[in-house]
Amino acid sequence: MSDLQFDRHRRLRISENMRALVRETQLHTEDLIYPIFVLEEEGKRSEVPSMPGIYQLSLDLLLEEIEEVVQLGIRSVLLFGVPKEKDAVGSEAYNDDGIIQQATRLIKEHYPDLIVVADTCLCEYTDHGHCGVIHEHFVDNDESLPLLVQTAISQAKAGADIIAPSNMMDGFVAAIRKGLDDAGFENIPVMSYAIKYSSAFYGPFRDAAGSTPQFGDRKTYQMDPANRLEAQREAESDIQEGADLLIVKPAMTYLDIVREVRDRFNLPVVAYNVSGEYSMVKAAAQNGWIDEKEIVLEKLTSMKRAGADLIMTYFAKDVARWIQN
Ligand code: PBG
Repeated sequence: MSDLQFDRHRRLRISENMRALVRETQLHTEDLIYPIFVLEEEGKRSEVPSMPGIYQLSLDLLLEEIEEVVQLGIRSVLLFGVPKEKDAVGSEAYNDDGIIQQATRLIKEHYPDLIVVADTCLCEYTDHGHCGVIHEHFVDNDESLPLLVQTAISQAKAGADIIAPSNMMDGFVAAIRKGLDDAGFENIPVMSYAIKYSSAFYGPFRDAAGSTPQFGDRKTYQMDPANRLEAQREAESDIQEGADLLIVKPAMTYLDIVREVRDRFNLPVVAYNVSGEYSMVKAAAQNGWIDEKEIVLEKLTSMKRAGADLIMTYFAKDVARWIQN
């Protein structure tokens, strides 16, 4: 053996302490953003059937959940509303007393330091389930923009710390940035869903948020999963329009895109580990087919290795617990 030439890579894998010493990527609780579904009803906590462990929570039960999140060291939540009333133009999205506005005020009153990210979209609030206004069965880009701007301003007024527009209308960052600035919210960052693919992985979310399109699909505004260069164009225009952070969504099957965005642009990159990615792991774990903890930590570590600075994930509370211990 002594005349053979080769490298001994295994030297640095010899023990857990040795591996920890040379580990290149770390998952931190501060990296996590936890999505929460707020229900406009009283006294109701209903589990999303396709997302075990994830609940739609009414306002009166919200603070318990927030308390737990804060105790675990999570610093940021992403709010989605499940409103009582829906209409063609998503009025509840920009109602100053809408469910998200109420939830935001309540959270900020009790936990002023917790970062509240508001998802700015109309799909949870429109009766047709699309992310903008419909004209002859087509989502009208320019007519939707003012409503999204109104939504963002209303969310900021309620105390949201970050505006995260997910509607995929062209120009939404420019319009929202100007709207926020004109309303005196020049210090509120825009976390743009810059790169959002039209993905079957959003299926369980649409159960949770009640936002399944009533006709057609989202392919005329969300991106084709086959495209990579288009992701760069989307990121470029959102940066030009004033985005402060860039989201890539979904995460798991788009880590090549996360890496490219990290390498090409210098804004913080957020990977959204979406509902379908959560449900698949839960289903397999419930069947005893995989080790949930190991799988989740491996997945999220891989997202960071691919270049994500932050991760939006329904596993945030579990991960925070696992990292602590
Ligand atoms: C709203 C929105 C969606 C998600 C986040 N914001 C759904 C969609 O575009 O249909 C999906 C999140 C998830 O699947 O976890 N437009």
